[in-house]
Amino acid sequence: MKKATKKPAKRPAAKKKPFKRPVFHHALLKTARMDEMIKWYADVVGTQPNFYAPGIAFLSNDGANHRLSLVGNPLFRDNPEFRKYAGLHHLAFEYTTVNDLLDTWQRLHDEFGYEPHVAVHHGMTLSFYYVDPDGNSVELQADAFGDWKKSTKWMRESAEFKADPIGKFVVPAKMVAARAAGVKTKELLRRAYAGEYAPSAPYDYRVDLPA
Ligand SMILES: [Fe+2]
Repeated sequence: MKKATKKPAKRPAAKKKPFKRPVFHHALLKTARMDEMIKWYADVVGTQPNFYAPGIAFLSNDGANHRLSLVGNPLFRDNPEFRKYAGLHHLAFEYTTVNDLLDTWQRLHDEFGYEPHVAVHHGMTLSFYYVDPDGNSVELQADAFGDWKKSTKWMRESAEFKADPIGKFVVPAKMVAARAAGVKTKELLRRAYAGEYAPSAPYDYRVDLPA
């Protein structure tokens, strides 16, 4: 007698749950120069400690309880070989306008003598990269379109970005001088991307491939 085979009960198709995307919140840096780092980030991007105890600090420059954590111990060693190692290259902070970024370049130049190790018009952003006391790069940027949607579309679709995803080096002082002479932001960025404010020698990206 043929054994009746029991059909497995049909399970309802699993409903795909909506993907929940978190928002990037903070980074943690280990340092042997706690006080110097706290001061540098305060001077450059206006962070203040919301908590500070020996060996640990939580800094923020907006409504988040912290945007940067610092774990400090004098035993942490510098890494002179960082250029050749995989890992984090820079943190980035964004200004609302190109004018704010240029004003900040002027302030850092005048008050501290800080200069970017590389300054680039990437096409979608104007970006000046500084070095913190531990040797981490910190990018200060402004959206070149003043609009994330527009700059994203340009990045995804433009032939210019496909041909050159890095962009053109610029000298911030030349841009500030052009602005003072009356060049408006849109034209300033056009000229920068056309290479009109290029440095005489190439900048240092602080990235090397091991030999
Ligand atoms: Fe970046």
